[in-house]
Amino acid sequence: MHISIGVRRILGALNRKRFCNSIRIPKMNRARSPVILLGMSAAQTSNESVSCRQRHDGVVVSNRKVCREHFELTVRLTPRLRGRFASTAPGQFIQIGCRPPADAMDINSLCGDEFEITPETWPSLQQPEMKQRLALLRRPFSLSGRWDDEQGTCIQIVQRVVGTGTQWLSKLNTGDPVDLIGPLGNTFTLPQERKLALLVGGGVGLPPMFYLSQACAKAGWDAVGFVGAMTADLLAVTWAKEAKPDALGTPVQSVQEFANVNFPAVVTTDDGSMGLKGRITDGLVRYLDSLTDEQLNQAVLYTCGPHVMMHAVAKLADRYGIPCQACLEQAMACGMGTCQSCIVKIEEDNNPHGTLEDGRNWRYKLACTDGPVFDSTDVIW
Ligand SMILES: Cc1cc2nc3c(=O)[nH]c(=O)nc-3n(C[C@H](O)[C@H](O)[C@H](O)COP(=O)(O)OP(=O)(O)OC[C@H]3O[C@@H](n4cnc5c(N)ncnc54)[C@H](O)[C@@H]3O)c2cc1C
Ligand code: FES
Repeated sequence: MHISIGVRRILGALNRKRFCNSIRIPKMNRARSPVILLGMSAAQTSNESVSCRQRHDGVVVSNRKVCREHFELTVRLTPRLRGRFASTAPGQFIQIGCRPPADAMDINSLCGDEFEITPETWPSLQQPEMKQRLALLRRPFSLSGRWDDEQGTCIQIVQRVVGTGTQWLSKLNTGDPVDLIGPLGNTFTLPQERKLALLVGGGVGLPPMFYLSQACAKAGWDAVGFVGAMTADLLAVTWAKEAKPDALGTPVQSVQEFANVNFPAVVTTDDGSMGLKGRITDGLVRYLDSLTDEQLNQAVLYTCGPHVMMHAVAKLADRYGIPCQACLEQAMACGMGTCQSCIVKIEEDNNPHGTLEDGRNWRYKLACTDGPVFDSTDVIW
């Protein structure tokens, strides 16, 4: 019975409630200089801009297999009375229901009868939620793209199949319904005095870098993508016809997602099956070493991917004196500040409650609402 009530409450809350969204700007940008905010849709510049995250229904436009374990999912959001999808920017994410949408599913039969328990409806472990392999909580995915036209909004994610929910997503066909909540989280920002973005995406950290590259192009920045995986068949990219990844780590327009906006990329694989053999940071170090002091002064590092990779990138940022924004894809349940499951240790001045050995103060923040993007120097790695 407890499971049934819990499930029902969670589903009800996540499906029905409207939550106000507050986008916060990372400390680096607040403290130092004006930033270019990365709004990507027409809605952001208009007064009718929607500032609340909401539940949206959508229909699958395409679900393309990109490599061995990754799928690129494009969803057209169905216009709702509640309004269109709020403006979005790179770094933000959505929570997708990785199961038949509530409207298409008989919630009562899934959850059982909550309150009216009779001898016939006495709860047991035979209830449908125990028998089906369903991802009951929504799953978070970074936006890899978004565009608006007369018919509404399309959003895109690239997802790696790792478990129940992503497996379900990978089976979606064109025309299938999905529902999601978004947009969620804060955004990457482009400091105004710089002009060169180094976009370092490892594994499932790549999608937000694609979206960010579009924002960089719009803002008139230069950018170089850094793409890494263990083997070539795990690289979630589309290969450009014109150029192949360079085995010495020279940036070339070999990754179509970056080449679309005329940016080159450095590709690395651990086993050397594509591009430079080594880790993503090996390619990054080679590139950073090739820059002049003037170019280094223009650079900003943006990173998303495995924790250890981002930590290594943060150390390089420190070594080369470059600001760095890291997107922490901490495991999440609610995605909107309720469950406290996504805490990260973040440096905070004047907080006497948490003090590190080196005297720095810190406190727990939530990756879903305070982040997922943080100044890498603020993260207690
Ligand atoms: C803000 C954010 C953005 C994300 N963006 C993307 C994206 O663009 N593309 C993408 O493929 N994935 C992304 N992820 C990760 C994605 O949410 C998980 O892979 C997904 O929830 C797994 O769901 P599942 O039901 O398939 O797996 P489950 O059955 O729930 O779990 C399968 C395995 O994956 C592990 N796992 C689940 N979530 C995470 C996580 N966040 N980090 C590390 N391990 C995890 C579990 O511990 C378990 O071992 C993002 C996560 C966050 C928090
Ligand atoms: S995921 Fe629930 S508080 Fe962050």
